[in-house]
Amino acid sequence: MSNYAAMNKGVVITGTGSYLPERILTNQDLEKMVDTSDEWISTRTGIKERHIAADNESASDMGAKAALRAIENAGKDIASVEMIIVATSTPDMLLPGTACFVQEEIGAKKAFCFDLGAACSGFLYAMEVARQFIAQGTINTALVIGAEKMSCVVDWEDRSTCVLFGDGAGAAVLENGGDVSGIKSSVLGSDGALTDLLNIPGGGSRNPVSHRIIDERLPFIKMEGKEVFKNAVRYMCDAGQQALERSGFTIDDIECVIPHQANMRIISAISDRIGAPLDRFYVNVDRVGNMSAASVPVALDEAVRNGRIKKGDKVLFVAFGGGFTWGATVIEWTA
Ligand code: UT7
Repeated sequence: MSNYAAMNKGVVITGTGSYLPERILTNQDLEKMVDTSDEWISTRTGIKERHIAADNESASDMGAKAALRAIENAGKDIASVEMIIVATSTPDMLLPGTACFVQEEIGAKKAFCFDLGAACSGFLYAMEVARQFIAQGTINTALVIGAEKMSCVVDWEDRSTCVLFGDGAGAAVLENGGDVSGIKSSVLGSDGALTDLLNIPGGGSRNPVSHRIIDERLPFIKMEGKEVFKNAVRYMCDAGQQALERSGFTIDDIECVIPHQANMRIISAISDRIGAPLDRFYVNVDRVGNMSAASVPVALDEAVRNGRIKKGDKVLFVAFGGGFTWGATVIEWTA
């Protein structure tokens, strides 16, 4: 870390990477585990399958694999990484931060490392934190990761939530772009009055682990699906529109929208409300389910690698999650 330098350097994404665990859990597999059907899951969510991490595979293991791919894609030396942020709600341990495990796994000795908790919006929050560090001249290169092992916080006896989530990790390398500013605008918001609607109530300091807390199944995800759905559409659209206004672009300028991948019906509703046809959205929720903070960076990496996002394209990211938290970012792709 250097002393404060000249203000407001441009920030660009120079590389992306992602990792999905090998094991695939299909809707047909779930039919054998809880009272559900492929038909219900497909029509209500658009999800067909999701990846599930191995027992000995943690959020940092997945994050490290995604990170190495992003660094290689950026053509960088690992020694040049000065900061690692891991956005996660499923950290390896309560202490230390998952980012420290990632640092050790990839050998980024020069980096300072911390986690960021903003649920499914975490990657957009982490990207904005990294952008500010770089824009201010404090560092030149940051590694931003979204990594989640949702399968270890899902209640596999609760059919209303266990069909929704998957595991995986995505990463991006952010760098000082000098006069070139790839990240054009960012909007972040939260509403702490609505923490009850989506949470993992047990295992933290409010309801520390005990036999009673486990018997009551409190270390697992609880969600009021319908309320979350309505708020998700509203806040992702509002944030998206605000980020567009701040960037000086309109929705018609956007070649690709990368939404948080929670539910196909939410993505369709955003498409209607924000005025961009569905074919401009990058969608992988059918193959990976909801990976919380990993959803946006995995979708981004796939879209870049399969040519869906090309140099010069304008990309709009929108995300929403527990808290509630939400965010939107506009980027002109420079890589
Ligand atoms: O990542 C953070 C953001 N998260 C989200 O954005 C998720 C937002 N919410 C959703 O995506 C939807 O609300 C869900 C997919 C979770 C649920 O869809 P819904 O249309 O809101 O269904 P519901 O919860 O109102 O349930 C409808 C029915 C209920 O039965 P009754 O009471 O009508 O008889 C549920 O018991 O569907 C039943 N049900 C199921 N049936 C078969 C709930 N889960 C299942 C299931 N299989 N897996």
